[in-house]
Amino acid sequence: MRCAAFLVTVALAIPSPALAQSPVPSARPVVVQGAMQIEVDALVHRLDRPAMETVGGWTFWRGTIDGYPVIVSKTLKGMTNAAAATVIAVERYHAIAIINQGTAGGHDPALHVYDIVLGTSSVNLGAFKSPARPAGAGSSTLDWSPIDLTAADGSAASGATPRHPATFKGDTSLLAAARSARQTYTKGKIVEGVIGSSDVWNDEVDRILKLHAVYGTEAEEMETASAAQIAAQLDVPLLGIRILSDNTLNGGAYDPKTSEACEDYVYHVVKAYIATLKR
Ligand code: 5AD
Repeated sequence: MRCAAFLVTVALAIPSPALAQSPVPSARPVVVQGAMQIEVDALVHRLDRPAMETVGGWTFWRGTIDGYPVIVSKTLKGMTNAAAATVIAVERYHAIAIINQGTAGGHDPALHVYDIVLGTSSVNLGAFKSPARPAGAGSSTLDWSPIDLTAADGSAASGATPRHPATFKGDTSLLAAARSARQTYTKGKIVEGVIGSSDVWNDEVDRILKLHAVYGTEAEEMETASAAQIAAQLDVPLLGIRILSDNTLNGGAYDPKTSEACEDYVYHVVKAYIATLKR
């Protein structure tokens, strides 16, 4: 009783800004991001002693895997949400490394639903400049040129057309962990390549094939390049790991169960990465 009364007194004595702050764990956590509830559920269930916290509209589950702090983060969908959730992961939770994982659409006819792409890099497929066309001349995204919004001031505004959109390399240590966990995944193949991100879901075959040919994208989704841009600015390693939930190029219909298969694989990647941190 006395002890309980003491704890209540101490809790009340802490000024409210301190209560709003999250305590910094002794080791910086690995943060695993997923946009939708189905892309984080299985991972949350793998956490030991998960505790849920919200920051605005974003949800974080803090727990451990193999005794090491891991946070599962529901970023919500799209580039803006992913960027904001990444800032929170780094600034509030002090992420040591970030994995952005979940579903994606195929950009390569050789890839099938349940195949996984390890993002050796990610590109922003949402920033383009169209050629000038008069009224009535129509619109074709195939003629658009990329704008690298991370480029130095002036180049985008001046209308200069870079040959490549903003690109972010996947972290080599996380990639090594992902490679080492390969044998745990049996539902499809695992390839390495470029992940393209934007707030657009492309289902036009000609556009997808052009993006694949020009930027080398193996898959598209709506978060990785955005999270990677922020992680790069804040100097935190990040890797995108994406499972094909759909592939218009070969008739692969959307399968929401792919998200859980990706999470199962990512769990093994996290374990492999944690083992390297403990060494
Ligand atoms: N194109 C774009 N986003 C996709 N996603 C799954 N498949 C695709 C696709 N073909 C993911 C995005 C977003 C949600 C709509 O599903 O990352 O979070």
